[in-house]
Amino acid sequence: MYDEPRPARPASPTQRTAAVIPAAGRGVRLGPGAPKALRSLGGTPMLIHAVRAMARSRAVSLVVVVAPSDGAAEVRNLLDEHALPDRTDILVVPGGDTRQESVRAGLDALPADVTAVLIHDAARPLVPVDTVDAVVEAIRDGAPAVVPAMPLSDTVKEVEPGPPGAPEPVVATPERARLRAVQTPQGFDRATLVKAHDTIAVNGEGATDDAGMVEKLGVPVVLVPGHEEAFKVTRPLDLVLAEAVLARRRATDAY
Ligand code: C5P
Repeated sequence: MYDEPRPARPASPTQRTAAVIPAAGRGVRLGPGAPKALRSLGGTPMLIHAVRAMARSRAVSLVVVVAPSDGAAEVRNLLDEHALPDRTDILVVPGGDTRQESVRAGLDALPADVTAVLIHDAARPLVPVDTVDAVVEAIRDGAPAVVPAMPLSDTVKEVEPGPPGAPEPVVATPERARLRAVQTPQGFDRATLVKAHDTIAVNGEGATDDAGMVEKLGVPVVLVPGHEEAFKVTRPLDLVLAEAVLARRRATDAY
């Protein structure tokens, strides 16, 4: 599903693209230890990989990192300690209790001239630049909301959730060919995403998918091909896979 996207066209003087990286999660599913974004991958914190992945796109001139609310100074120091491209501005802001609140804090920090915004999970440190550029390109072509996505290899069941470990009744089996697993960076026309955050309230954990909020506004969302290396590092096995991807990149000198 991955073919070669064109590099993002240079921005017109009226277009500026920024990336917001929510990195304020604790990452409890990875087990005990440092907050997920600060976990090391190949000797470098996951967050630094994620910032570099956004900065590698020539279209992205600003990266806003949303840090744990008590860890903004630590994150600023970490960014200062690692080499990042000079042409990219980096801002650090404190995050909130949910991912949705953290994204909102990042949006509030954007300068007025930013017209397009990418929201990228720190937990997807290895997204290739071609995927970032494909999202930017679709936004510049006029789509208000763009999401990289992959077909599924597993069949998916909808269930009536029960207590953990108990057998769960199946409610439905959606047709696999019509399903996609979505990744980040998700790209938006800035005004559209801000409107979604202003008007759509999501209960419980808050929104885990920004595009889902835009859908609720009735604004069309389109998918572009994602990449298998844009997977989310959630569980301990994902760290093993991420280390293997980095080792393969180093061996083939792709980065
Ligand atoms: O927990 P999950 O893997 O869904 O988190 C996705 C992204 O959202 C991660 O990069 C995490 O750091 C971020 N997040 C955040 N603020 C929160 C919760 C999650 O920035 N309160």
